[in-house]
Amino acid sequence: MNEPLILSIDTSCDETSAALSAGRRVLSNVISSQISIHQKYGGVFPALAKRAHEEKIDCVVREALKRGCGWEVGNESGNEDEKWGKSSSSSPLIPDSQLTSHPQIIAVTYGPGLAIALEVGIKKAKELVQRGLKSATTRLPLIAVNHLEGHLYSCLAQNKNGKPEREITFPAIGLIVSGGHTELVLMKNHGEYQVLGATLDDACGEALDKAAKILHLGYPGGPIIERLAENVNRKQQTANCQYFLTPPLKEKNNLNFSYSGLKTQFLYLTQKMTEEELGKNLTVLAKTFQEAAFEQVLRKTSQAIEVYQPKTLLCGGGVIANHYLRQLLRKLAKQNHLPIFFPANKKLITDNAAMIGIAAWYKYQRNEFVEDLDLLDRKPRLSL
Ligand code: KG4
Ligand code: ZN
Repeated sequence: MNEPLILSIDTSCDETSAALSAGRRVLSNVISSQISIHQKYGGVFPALAKRAHEEKIDCVVREALKRGCGWEVGNESGNEDEKWGKSSSSSPLIPDSQLTSHPQIIAVTYGPGLAIALEVGIKKAKELVQRGLKSATTRLPLIAVNHLEGHLYSCLAQNKNGKPEREITFPAIGLIVSGGHTELVLMKNHGEYQVLGATLDDACGEALDKAAKILHLGYPGGPIIERLAENVNRKQQTANCQYFLTPPLKEKNNLNFSYSGLKTQFLYLTQKMTEEELGKNLTVLAKTFQEAAFEQVLRKTSQAIEVYQPKTLLCGGGVIANHYLRQLLRKLAKQNHLPIFFPANKKLITDNAAMIGIAAWYKYQRNEFVEDLDLLDRKPRLSL
């Protein structure tokens, strides 16, 4: 089948990303992280996220094309901002005389996410579709992608040589564990989703970020908690068994998640401690919270497997970057003789545009294009 070059964009939260892909092969995946901007607020500051996306988007798109289409650096002359920066300029964004091949489709995340951040990516995608590429004699087709679908399809992304070759056998269960979502989804086929359970309050990544904030550890909290927790040995943890958090929704026979109670328990627990005690027990506290957060993910996923008997388990979202969580999920899949897929590399796990390009490839095969550009708007609360 003809595999058109897809240029994809994601600006749903605090990463500005653009990628180039052909079928499932990722040719480039450029991510500009805003971590340093939001760090001092202990979370994402929407207005600053929007501004950073606006500042970075052209440069990120250009870099994705440069790396993916073989456009050599240093060919252009003149002022960078003049050439790439202003969307009001009438010159094309991409000097496609310098590209060895051209994107044939534009894909963009339209939700869920931060409204004012999503807007930046959508605006840029519309601009590229309409006049961004000189070579296009007609308007390029546009595909709008759900960010959560992107996280699921990140598991199918391949390198330039088409590896890994894995295929989903349906029905599949998708587990998304990110900063904004904690969801279990039944996939009956490509593009056919039934949400089995979602968080009733905070997401797992959000809870890890908040726990880290309570411990004054910095942002994003997930990776910091992981590093600290790795330093705890079993002896230390049993010695500190007073740090017990009641597992949420244990009695509930459904597949929903809840993290706000866990966060409150953790806050009360730490408020009773002196600064010195906190400092001395930081690693054990981090480990205790991480264990409680992941116990819920494992329990609900196990329940979903038991009820729906899937043939594949797909895992995506930023928290899947956690080695310990992956280890737990691998064990669960093995016990159930179930093939388990994680994104093949680290850059495909946290927010990135390549996963949007892969999801778009499947939408392309189903002819799911945006028909009326004017009607495409951001959907901050979009669900699967
Ligand atoms: O998917 P993602 O990049 O953005 C959303 O769509 O939300 O996920 C970001 C979340 C943050 O909460 C971050 O703390 C968490 O993923 N995260 C991790 C790790 N790396 C990122 N959580 C636990 N362990 C990690 N290594
Ligand atoms: Zn995400």
